[in-house]
Amino acid sequence: MKRVCTRQFRNLTRLRSFGEVREKISRSINHVCLSRRSFHGSACRLGELELTSVRYPHVQRGKYATLTEKDVDFFQKLLPQRVLQDPSELDGYNIDWMRTVRGNSQMVLRPKTTSEVAEILKYCNERHLAVVPQGGNTGLVGGSVPVFDEIVISTQLMNQIISLDEVSGIVVCQSGCILETLDNYLAERELMMPLDLGAKGSCHIGGNVSTNAGGLRLLRYGSLHGSVLGVEAVLASGEIVDCLSSLRKDNTGYDLKQLFIGSEGTLGMVTSVSILCPRRPKAVNVAFLGVENFEAALQTFQLCKGMLAEILSACEFMDQESMQCIQENLKLTNPIKSYPLYILIETSGSHGSHDEEKLNAFLEAAMGKGIVQDGTIAMDVTQRQNIWGLRERIAEGLLHDGYNYKYDISLPLPKLYEIVEDMRQRLGSKVTRVVSYGHLGDGNLHFNVTTPEYNKEVLGLIEPYIYEWTSQVRGSVSAEHGLGFKKRDCIRYSKEPNAVKMMVKMKKLFDPNGILNPYKTIPL
Ligand code: FAD
Ligand code: MLT
Ligand code: ZN
Repeated sequence: MKRVCTRQFRNLTRLRSFGEVREKISRSINHVCLSRRSFHGSACRLGELELTSVRYPHVQRGKYATLTEKDVDFFQKLLPQRVLQDPSELDGYNIDWMRTVRGNSQMVLRPKTTSEVAEILKYCNERHLAVVPQGGNTGLVGGSVPVFDEIVISTQLMNQIISLDEVSGIVVCQSGCILETLDNYLAERELMMPLDLGAKGSCHIGGNVSTNAGGLRLLRYGSLHGSVLGVEAVLASGEIVDCLSSLRKDNTGYDLKQLFIGSEGTLGMVTSVSILCPRRPKAVNVAFLGVENFEAALQTFQLCKGMLAEILSACEFMDQESMQCIQENLKLTNPIKSYPLYILIETSGSHGSHDEEKLNAFLEAAMGKGIVQDGTIAMDVTQRQNIWGLRERIAEGLLHDGYNYKYDISLPLPKLYEIVEDMRQRLGSKVTRVVSYGHLGDGNLHFNVTTPEYNKEVLGLIEPYIYEWTSQVRGSVSAEHGLGFKKRDCIRYSKEPNAVKMMVKMKKLFDPNGILNPYKTIPL
């Protein structure tokens, strides 16, 4: 049984309902650590999900070859014992984490080396066989699974750490290393990965790089476009592009590695990466706060940016409906009273008492101004994890409702919650819940709707309305999850026609036969 206790905010005379807080949070938190869940082969209702080709009949299979016995022979010789064809093993690779799309691949290849990936792609390109690169299969836009019968190339066995320079903090590793494994390895050397996300126990660094994953600490450590120093990738032709630099500075020509960051496996298969890792902070604090409305949430963010400054490492928010979802579906416990919105603030620094002093001063000011109504601070690692669990596990909680319509948008901060209120009115009682949470510090809203099962009418009420709304305020229809299969036709809401034209040209240059992750990311 784990308990979260409240620490007295020093000098904080106006923290309301402090007694209540202590009582409430002494209840147990049933915390199943999502990061340790394995998504592959999850047995949950996989058999019932209809094929993507049935649910999306307007998408036509491209003119690709189909697998022959000769192809199977070739792959079995190249990858002995590493070709999966047993239907019972294929489900976990054909179905996405959200269980919303289902491909029909007959084969999964599990290379261990870059040269094996090169052999595979060379062969597939010559044979016109379509492929899907797959990491941990935690992507949220249907990009990591086949649409039809594309061959899955999994990075599961490409999990070697190649080198670590402890002075510069630069780690070089294969693309199939699991994010959490890397972070644990670095923790022993007082370093950390510059990104963190709820799927860390399953997602691969190659998948993170290919989606340009943002996550919980982008506010502090920036995007992977900054911290990835080098990428090695294999093109559709089988050519290896070695841009695996480990230099902080390198202005020799075009920065080609950037093209593989966020291109979702459509331009090449990432085989190794080199990443700049920050020092692991010695002092970490996590506070969970309740506020009355979104205006107060923004004021809290502004105040903490000013007062916590260089030690602020995360500023996340979740609404009351998110809290209800995890309480009902995952049996988690709210450590404070019920509020319309909650804010999670994390500080990371090198001097414990200095950081605490700053955090207390901030909380005192926030309470004193009446911006924050209530709150709790984690006192140890377990409590920190439990508080983080409230925010990180909403995605998991939503799946229990049935079907989850998931949107990941960037909006100007003052507009961030307006769209939620608007959509709530629009959808009324037709849906189970409308839930929103996200990376407040990055202006990134995760807007979610659930129904017991997939419902076309509900989808029609959400789309294209939400994209038009976002576009009108010059937001982005995909802030961090990418476009994948489900959002590829929405690109024009956020990118002008000439930009899309250029992307199409680049795709043709890199992958003239279109074998790499077809039907994904850019409309062709
Ligand atoms: P996959 O899902 O396997 O693949 C994702 C895409 O990358 C696919 O298009 C695939 O074809 C491509 N790809 C994978 N590996 C390679 C490779 N080696 N070379 C080329 N292409 C490749 N995302 C965020 O940005 N921020 C979050 O906070 C966040 N939180 C999440 C929380 C949960 C619980 C879950 C389930 C997902 C979350 N995500 C988040 C989604 C996020 O995109 C993924 O979790 C992660 O980045 C994908 O890594 P993966 O290894 O699972 O990739
Ligand atoms: C998150 O921030 O929790 C993830 O991006 C997952 C989600 O959007 O549900
Ligand atoms: Zn996110």
